[in-house]
Amino acid sequence: MSLPSLSLPRLIGHRGAAAYAPENTLSSLREARRRGAPWVEFDVNLSADDVPLLMHDARLTRTTGLDQPVAATSWADIERLDAGAWMGAAFAGERVPSLEKAIAALAALGLGANVEIKPSPGREDEVARAVVAMLRRLWPAHLPTPLLSSFKDAALAAARDAAPELPRAILIDELQDDWRDRAQAVAAVGVNTNGGKLAVARAAAVKAAGYKLSVYTINDPALARDLVAMGVDCVITDVPDIIAAAIG
Ligand code: G3P
Ligand code: MG
Repeated sequence: MSLPSLSLPRLIGHRGAAAYAPENTLSSLREARRRGAPWVEFDVNLSADDVPLLMHDARLTRTTGLDQPVAATSWADIERLDAGAWMGAAFAGERVPSLEKAIAALAALGLGANVEIKPSPGREDEVARAVVAMLRRLWPAHLPTPLLSSFKDAALAAARDAAPELPRAILIDELQDDWRDRAQAVAAVGVNTNGGKLAVARAAAVKAAGYKLSVYTINDPALARDLVAMGVDCVITDVPDIIAAAIG
């Protein structure tokens, strides 16, 4: 089977530009663009009634104040929540975006995306299938092909089966000796990992094997430069303006 091709930028804004605006909101996507990120990373889960939406945590508590699991809450209840006030009064009224609204914002802003599939436990297949179905239906032709990633290999396998043409990256906090088996099992073209835990030899092995290598979440300019010198292709950061200045 031939693998999908992937063209990555040098940096990606994390959860939008999470240092400057509430993570995984439309204002965070806009802030990423304003601060020079060509792409953004964001996390996608499903509401109880299967609406794909941007949310990092399995519970709504931290960013909205509603102490409930995402997977047990309807979209009608989630879209009413305030997802900005937790970060400061200036962001009050910011909403949890549906993936559909986020894609429309990307289209208007001209932003590419690393879509992280972040399923609630036990919903790996469903979330992956919902995400790729929406990307296939709505992804704007003028944007670069998006990259799918997930910590859950089952979600990547479901994405591979449903949309083999969409490039995938395994997402692993600290790479172990089985990283290549895991990448091959889901036909990944990329490896996304914690840049703070990436050994020089491991980075070299990933690159020698032909994979695109991305690291998160790098907010320190000196570390970003070191990682690029190690062969890292793409740096995922909360502070795209600072990292862009550091790595050019
Ligand atoms: O996709 C990179 C990074 O977002 C993975 O960690 O927990 O911030 O989603 P997390
Ligand atoms: Mg993420």
